Amino acid sequence: MPAIETNHLRKVFQSVQKEPGLWGSVRGLWSRRYTEKAAVKGVDLRIEEGELVGFLGPNGAGKTTTLKMLSGILFPTSGEARVLGYTPWERRPDFLRNIALVMGQKQQLWWDLPASESFLLLQEIYEIPEAAYRERLAELSEMLEIGPLLGTQVRKLSLGERMKCELVAALLHAPRVVFLDEPTIGLDVVSQVRIREFLKAYQARQRSTIILTSHYMQDVKELCERVIIIDQGGVVFDGPLADLITRFSDEKLVRLTFAQPVTPDALAPFGAFEMPDETHATFRVPRADSARRAGALLSTLPVSDITIDEVEAEEVIRQMFAASALATGAQERGSHANANGN
Ligand SMILES: Nc1ncnc2c1ncn2[C@@H]1O[C@H](COP(=O)(O)OP(=O)(O)OP(=O)(O)O)[C@@H](O)[C@H]1O
Ligand SMILES: [Mg+2]
Repeated sequence: MPAIETNHLRKVFQSVQKEPGLWGSVRGLWSRRYTEKAAVKGVDLRIEEGELVGFLGPNGAGKTTTLKMLSGILFPTSGEARVLGYTPWERRPDFLRNIALVMGQKQQLWWDLPASESFLLLQEIYEIPEAAYRERLAELSEMLEIGPLLGTQVRKLSLGERMKCELVAALLHAPRVVFLDEPTIGLDVVSQVRIREFLKAYQARQRSTIILTSHYMQDVKELCERVIIIDQGGVVFDGPLADLITRFSDEKLVRLTFAQPVTPDALAPFGAFEMPDETHATFRVPRADSARRAGALLSTLPVSDITIDEVEAEEVIRQMFAASALATGAQERGSHANANGN
């Protein structure tokens, strides 16, 4: 049985649109205009126990909405989901005891208490036996180096310190499935690295199933073998990061080192290139033509070294999302609100 499985999961948000001004409010009493927003449009996922999957997409793609449905805090409009065999939004105690949702943008710890007090409350809530609680708390606080912070009021902690405490709080009950919604958002580079290292070590030790969303490609590159990309509520890619590049990038990079200095004029006939100095150049060539182009470069120029590389995943994703933002903008400018009433 997969740890997570969904079948045409959909969520449409409906909101009442108030017309401007007093007259608008009065009119709104008997005729309401609704706008509908399909945030998640029929998502099919299958994630096996122990996988750490990156869940990517531009702003507003439907990532958080999907994670909220999978963790049972939001009802879907239609479709099905099973997480560890449970239907999440039924919120069975056995389900809740086995999952965790961490939201980088939201706070779970009690603001006025020291983290240690929040942890004790969570021990009560999740009915964690004393020995297991102590062992996990010791292990997690050691891995995240938060020992000295445990007694400090949460409101006084830095953002990075607070995020570490949030992670401990979420993992104390040893959930089998963990949803991490942008756990590194807004953190400085050092804290991001710490949290990334922690997640890597934690996953290796616990073999829990993790879905991670992040806008930082480094998180995804280092942690996730598989990525799922969602755009405008639908899955547009599901597979290894390397496949994403071969599928969505039709260019390759031919990097050359020259035995003696070369002028830009000598390179111009071979297509678009970048030249950091006079003995190095990188050409962007069509994927299908890369071998032939490399051959032509080798036979004409004083090449001492050549490599053919894939474009960076970051760039591929940036291009995908940029194209999507353009499409969305065009759509929104061209369409009218879905009105209901007169
Ligand atoms: N409660 C709500 N009511 C109405 N619309 C909503 C609600 N929650 C989310 N939406 C809309 O649904 C869409 C998807 O939102 P969601 O938060 O899932 O995106 P996301 O992929 O998590 O984006 P981000 O990367 O910015 O966090 C957005 O257009 C958002 O405005
Ligand atoms: Mg989100």
